[in-house]
Amino acid sequence: MFKLPKIALLSLCAAFGANAASMGIGAPASEAEISGWDIDIRPDGMGLPVGAGTAEQGEPLYEAKCAACHGSFGEGAGRWPVLAGGEDSLAEERPEKTVGSYWPYASTLWDYIHRAMPYPQPQSLSDDEVYKITAYVLYLNDIVDYDFELNQDSFKDVVMPNQDSFYVDDRPDVVNTRCFENCADPEAMTIVGTIGGLSPTGHFKEDSGVSASHYADEPEAVESKAVALSEAAERGKGSYDQYCAACHGAGIAGAPKVGDVAGWSGRISQGMATLVEHAINGYQGDAGYMPPKGGFTNLADDVVADAVSYMAESSQ
Ligand code: HEC
Ligand code: HEC
Repeated sequence: MFKLPKIALLSLCAAFGANAASMGIGAPASEAEISGWDIDIRPDGMGLPVGAGTAEQGEPLYEAKCAACHGSFGEGAGRWPVLAGGEDSLAEERPEKTVGSYWPYASTLWDYIHRAMPYPQPQSLSDDEVYKITAYVLYLNDIVDYDFELNQDSFKDVVMPNQDSFYVDDRPDVVNTRCFENCADPEAMTIVGTIGGLSPTGHFKEDSGVSASHYADEPEAVESKAVALSEAAERGKGSYDQYCAACHGAGIAGAPKVGDVAGWSGRISQGMATLVEHAINGYQGDAGYMPPKGGFTNLADDVVADAVSYMAESSQ
């Protein structure tokens, strides 16, 4: 109950540092308050308090405070967690992960018991009691002898059986250098329809009850316009259909729609050279962004120029 305000107080102090007083709220966290939160133990034992206890001393404490749930031998009563046994079971179909079979560091055991156990009264054990009970749970796992005294120094002598099975993940997708090999061939990539998310008209059906204005944007067949095309424009039609129509056919994302005479007249008046230059190098105008050569197309310049001829001639 009283811990929530403490968290708030600590983070306030962290955020405002020495200014906490000048803001007129809260107070610097005291040593005692900070040490109440600073209880983690590192794998190398850093953070362990001074204290000691043997497995023998831990046995009666464990029986009184832990065995009801975890069993006298750490075998787990009912469905409470098992703390001992399970050696060599990790590769089996139903591995039994216990302190002895699985945990890589003894520090986790000290920290966990100190922080969280006994389940109904966490943090009720003294440091010496935690040393004693930790030693006893290690003993139940055949990791230390009955008379082994666990303290902040002998802690370093405890080697957990499964420690070496934990290693830094060195799989290639975790540590890898960026590579640009074997990328997809841009020549083989085609725009086959409208761009997902940009043109929401594709899923509307004539009889769906959606208002007609929704599919007013559907591409119109440009061929139906009676225009006499130049040779260049004839050549450009195919690449236009393949690489440019996704945007310019429907007039999506700000692209001027091919066939829209009013929309193109101002653009055409810039002259073909400018239009082609914009189509090749890309162009950010007021209407939107024209990606170079229509995107990842890798088209030859004269192919783009032919496509522009087709677009311009079809729009005047
Ligand atoms: C009322 C039942 C109960 C009592 C009493 C109890 N525990 Fe636990 N213990 C639990 C439960 C439940 C968990 C699992 C908690 C979780 O996963 O959040 C647990 C988890 C643990 C674990 C971690 C097991 C694992 O592999 O993840 C250890 C170690 C442990 N307890 C030790 C102790 C010790 C030592 C005592 C006595 C000081 C104790 N417990 C008392 C119920 C209990
Ligand atoms: C991803 C959508 C998209 C694709 C694909 C696309 N364009 Fe565009 N294009 C645009 C947009 C948006 C504009 C309008 C930019 C502006 O004026 O703000 C535009 C404008 C143009 C213009 C007029 C430039 C000007 O100066 O007014 C030409 C010409 C053009 N595109 C040619 C092409 C050609 C050729 C292709 C195919 C190789 C192509 N576009 C493919 C989006 C696209």
